[in-house]
Amino acid sequence: MYNTNIMCGIIGYCGRETAAPVVFEGLRRVEYRGYDSAGIATFNNGTLLLCKDVGKLGEIESRHHLSKMLGNTAIGHTRWATHGGVTQANAHPHCDCTSTIAVVHNGIIDNYQELRKQLSTNGHRFTSETDTEVIPHLIEEEMKNKRSLEEAVLAIAPKLKGSYAFLAMSSRDTDKIVGTRKDSPLAIGLGNGAFFAASDVLACSGIANKLIPLADTEIAVLARDSAEFYDAAGRKLTKKPTNLKTQWLDTDKQSYDYFMLKEIMEQPEALEAAVRQDKKAFTEIAMDILRAGQVIVTACGTSRYAALVGRYLFSKVGRKFCDVVMASEFHYFADSVDRNTVVLAVSQSGETADVIEGVKRARDNKAMIVSIVNRPQSQLANMSDHVIYLNCGPEQCVAATKSFLSQLAVFYLLSFSMVNSFDKAVKDIKGMKSKVAKTIEWNNERLKRLSERLKYKHDFYYIARGINFAIASEGALKLKEVSYIHAEGMPAGELKHGTLALIEQGTPVAVICPNDYTYDETMSNAMEAKSRGAYIIALSDRKNQIFDFWVKIPKVSELLYPMITVIPLQLLAYHTAVSLGKDPDKPRNLAKSVTVK
Ligand code: M6R
Repeated sequence: MYNTNIMCGIIGYCGRETAAPVVFEGLRRVEYRGYDSAGIATFNNGTLLLCKDVGKLGEIESRHHLSKMLGNTAIGHTRWATHGGVTQANAHPHCDCTSTIAVVHNGIIDNYQELRKQLSTNGHRFTSETDTEVIPHLIEEEMKNKRSLEEAVLAIAPKLKGSYAFLAMSSRDTDKIVGTRKDSPLAIGLGNGAFFAASDVLACSGIANKLIPLADTEIAVLARDSAEFYDAAGRKLTKKPTNLKTQWLDTDKQSYDYFMLKEIMEQPEALEAAVRQDKKAFTEIAMDILRAGQVIVTACGTSRYAALVGRYLFSKVGRKFCDVVMASEFHYFADSVDRNTVVLAVSQSGETADVIEGVKRARDNKAMIVSIVNRPQSQLANMSDHVIYLNCGPEQCVAATKSFLSQLAVFYLLSFSMVNSFDKAVKDIKGMKSKVAKTIEWNNERLKRLSERLKYKHDFYYIARGINFAIASEGALKLKEVSYIHAEGMPAGELKHGTLALIEQGTPVAVICPNDYTYDETMSNAMEAKSRGAYIIALSDRKNQIFDFWVKIPKVSELLYPMITVIPLQLLAYHTAVSLGKDPDKPRNLAKSVTVK
């Protein structure tokens, strides 16, 4: 038996319109959370209709016409499996023995084997290998005792160990959806005469204009004309909706072939949005960081590379040293976190399980938590003392691009706020808008041609020094995740300590060498690689005869180069993926929000 529904997208709709098209659209918007299989359940004239299959949403739609299902209440699911079969039986929704209760779930039920055993002993028949399937059967047991769907959900939730957000429907009340969550996201959206529940606000964008966050263990009961909320003890709660920002309504590719390119192109505007911050709040956070006994930044993947640039800025500008700890390793260091610690958690989604886990431990040890997030209403934001938003709007490509640039801008603002220079930092970043646009304009077509030439290479190396070192790592990560070509990024000085052994005739080495204090030393390292046959792709504002391919970048001040040097590397990764026929928005084996540890 396997856990097969680890990071997924769920959505439910109750309203006057036919539900399936709305749910299908919602699933399309959150498909980046998982794309192994998908399904929808609706009630039509009291009968449960269920359609699910393996494959991407578009493929399932063309085979089964999911979006044409009838009924005004529906739940849907798009799945990302870590292990176990990607099969139709394991796809969601899952039902009880009588096929009158349907459930979609995101998370892991840790004690599902035990529950399944008990339920099987009581005569329940299981049709999938998933942990999720215990939920409809548990609800079935409770509803046999004349409990309503919400009473049943309240009764079974304490029996579930692990993390979950799930939505349930029953033929007993076909206009109702009941949802609850623990350690997995679930937001409630309100639209015109309609209610939504979704694991991601993006699922509701364009259809909901207000949001209600649901706290851990709370229960939402959505009906055609009402939404009610209860705590775990069944006490009714009053909740205040908040407006959904208009930038979160834009979920179209517009004229672009892929979201990745659209999001790369949006970066000049993202910089402008990132500096729309409250100066006073920023300065206070910066002062808390300066006063702290220790500062630890925790993040994963691309967000961690932004943190590494931030570490450099904190030291250079604020003279404040901080450590950057990979979120999946952070809790192993929790013993040295105390009330004099500021933990800065960086996460585009605000839902990354490794980050959440570390932050929980840090909070238990009384550390101050400051988070830098993009997605509204995230778990991370909810558990932080201070939240800084990136404001760059929805990022739908699995590969992070514009959120990274926004994170760099926020770190720049924070570090200058440490020396009371918030306004200067805002001005600097605004000035970068045109430089980023220029970098794209100068290099987009040339990098497309370069990617055609290099796309069959097996290995790429990326080197840089100082503040750009993390950009080398970020460039390598981008190429790996969207084109599936092996790539490594490292400080240029490290190359000769081992990796140089891998350089052969024609091996591409991207050298990030702006004309600053690192130029000469980086050039020596590039020369060492070139002498062994490397093909040097150099990102610089100063030409050198050792370059085989020069990616010209504008001159900017030393601490701002990362905001420029990352751009050509994103473009190189994008064009390489596309010229290899890969879908850069949905790379194999990955998902946008990694909600498992
Ligand atoms: O949402 P987060 O920023 O917490 O996500 C962290 C990583 O999973 C993420 O940056 C991942 O590495 C991206 N796919 C990189 O493009």
